[in-house]
Amino acid sequence: MSNPLRARRAVETLKEYHPPLGGRDGLRLDFNENVDGCSPRVLHTLHSTTAETLNRYPEREPGERAVARHLGISFEQVLLTNGVDEAIHLLAETYLEPGDEALIAVPTFSMYEIYALATGAVVRCVQSGEAMEFPASGLLRAITPQTRLICIANPNNPTGAIATREQLLAIADAAPHAAVLIDEAYIHFGGESLLDQLGQIDNLFICRTFSKAHGLAGFRLGALLGSEAQLKMLRRVASPYNVNGIALACLGAALDDHEYIAGYIAQVLEGRSRLERFYGERNIPYWPSQANFVLAYFGDYREALVKQMRERGILVRDRNGDPGCAGCVRITLGNDSQTELLLRELPEALASIGFRPQPRPTLAAKEAR
Ligand SMILES: Cc1ncc(COP(=O)(O)O)c(C=O)c1O
Repeated sequence: MSNPLRARRAVETLKEYHPPLGGRDGLRLDFNENVDGCSPRVLHTLHSTTAETLNRYPEREPGERAVARHLGISFEQVLLTNGVDEAIHLLAETYLEPGDEALIAVPTFSMYEIYALATGAVVRCVQSGEAMEFPASGLLRAITPQTRLICIANPNNPTGAIATREQLLAIADAAPHAAVLIDEAYIHFGGESLLDQLGQIDNLFICRTFSKAHGLAGFRLGALLGSEAQLKMLRRVASPYNVNGIALACLGAALDDHEYIAGYIAQVLEGRSRLERFYGERNIPYWPSQANFVLAYFGDYREALVKQMRERGILVRDRNGDPGCAGCVRITLGNDSQTELLLRELPEALASIGFRPQPRPTLAAKEAR
C-alpha cells in the first residue's frame, strides 16, 4: 500500500487563519487599512503604466535604493517584500529550526505565530497585563538559549500600545542569538522608531509597510530593514521577483507624496482623539492608542454592536478571540468625514442595542506559556 501525501506535521497541526474578508461592503473600519485612498500621484503613475512594466520580470534593487534614500540608510540594509507578511515569513524561514522558540507578546498581530509555527518552532507567548501595556519584563524573563525569533509590533495591533526604545534595546541586547523584529507598521501614527539603531545592532530588524499610512494594501509592498550581513541571508531565501512590477513602478510616487501622507495622518490623529473622548465620556473602557485604531471593551454587547454597525454600513472588528481581549472591538480611524459618520452612527448603534457600559473583568499579566 502506498503512503498518501502528507504535509509536514507542523503544517497539519497549524490552525487555519481566515481574516473575515467576505462581503466587506461599506465603510471598512475593520482592517486598519487607509480607508481614505492613496496618493493621487500613485494613481497617476498607475494609469501611465505601460505593457513593459508587465511583460518584464520586476527589478527590486532600484526600489530598495529609493527606500534607502528615503530612510537615510544604505540599500544593502533594505529588502523589499510582498507586504510585511512576507518579511515575517522570511525571518521565520531563515532563523527558525524545528523545536526553536519564537517569542511574542500577546495580544498581537496573528501572522508572527502562524509563520513561526509553520517552521516547526515552538511559540511562547507573554500576555500583556490589565492596561495592555508592553510586557517588557515578561519578555526578558522568557528569553532562553533556544529563543531564535522575537516579534514585537510597535505600536502594537490590536491594542495601540507602544514599547519604549529602552525596553526594545534591552530585549535585543538580552537575545543576541535571536532575530529581533520590530514591526513598525503603524509608526506613522505614534511611537518612536528604532531606525537610528539599524546597522549598530546585528540582530535587530525593522519592518515597514505601505499598507497603512500609504493606502497601498492591495499592492502588497513592505520593507524589511536590517544589518547588511543578516539581510544577505534573507535574500538567499526570498524569491527574486517577490514584489510585483506595478508596485515597484509606483513606489517612488508613494514615497514622495509627503503632503498626502501628512494630511491623512493628521485626520487619523484627530479622529482618534475624538473617538477616545467619546469612549471616555460614555465610561466605555478603552486603551489609549498610538495607532490608527482604538480597542474598546463592550463586554456582552460586543457581538450585537458589530452586527448593528454592519447593518449601518460600517465594518468594525470583533477582537473577542484575541488573548485577553474578550468583549473587545477594534475600530480603525479614517478621514474627517468618515470619523464624522462613525461618531454619528456609533451612539445610535449603542442606543439601539440597549448598551450599558460594563466594567472589564480584571486580567492579570501572565508569564510566558
Ligand atoms: C502589526 C502589523 N504588521 C503587519 C501587518 C500586515 O502588513 P502588510 O499588509 O504589509 O503585510 C499588519 C496588518 O494588519 C499589522 O497589523
